[in-house]
Amino acid sequence: MSSNRRNFIKTGGLVLTGIVAGAHMVSGFVPTHSAIIAGGEGDYTLPALGYAYDALEPHIDARTMEIHHTKHHQAYISKLNAAIAKEPELKTKSLDQLLASLKTLPESVRNDIRNHGGGHWNHRFFWTVIGPGNTMPSEKLMAGIINDFGSMEAFKEQFEKKSMSVFGSGWCWLIADAKGKLMISTTSNQDNPLMDIVETKGKPILALDVWEHAYYLNYQNKRADYLKAFWHIVNWQSVNEKFES
Ligand SMILES: [Fe+2]
Repeated sequence: MSSNRRNFIKTGGLVLTGIVAGAHMVSGFVPTHSAIIAGGEGDYTLPALGYAYDALEPHIDARTMEIHHTKHHQAYISKLNAAIAKEPELKTKSLDQLLASLKTLPESVRNDIRNHGGGHWNHRFFWTVIGPGNTMPSEKLMAGIINDFGSMEAFKEQFEKKSMSVFGSGWCWLIADAKGKLMISTTSNQDNPLMDIVETKGKPILALDVWEHAYYLNYQNKRADYLKAFWHIVNWQSVNEKFES
């Protein structure tokens, strides 16, 4: 059996789980700070990637994708569920709501929801903004990028510079404010722009995982090479939808 076929079957096996995990993942809808998803999500489950582990090669290798998805992402989900089990009344809240109200959560679970809830949200989002398709930014997104950064090249340069500036583990984000103005921000560890505790809040449009676990097997210490490779796997169609929604 080819590795493509094997990986497709492995990924496909998670499709039902992904459907149960949340309709917004299946439809591609992404929760935002300005349209926080309400209502409990219950127990969290690993969403399907929607593409095979080797679909992003040579830019991201299949082994990295498989470990990242089935080990790292799953670990955040398991620990998030364990935290929620300690305070079951939190099941009535969506993950968006929990992350947007960290300051008021019970102290017993606040850090776990910040780290593992953030880890789940960020990876669930990340899988949707990367992919194997050959996609392009929409006219509307390009206009926003040109208006706020000068050009696509200038945007990419700033995004890479910000990504390189993350000390240790974290994320780089393209976010929009309430008026649709685009900005680049970074967060440490598994924080994200939805959280009430971060300095720069906004609606996530694009994200890049700059934890070493996202690239170390292929790129080792060469984060700059991973950043260059990232532009080959951005799912612009998904990014367009997030910007325009
Ligand atoms: Fe990650």
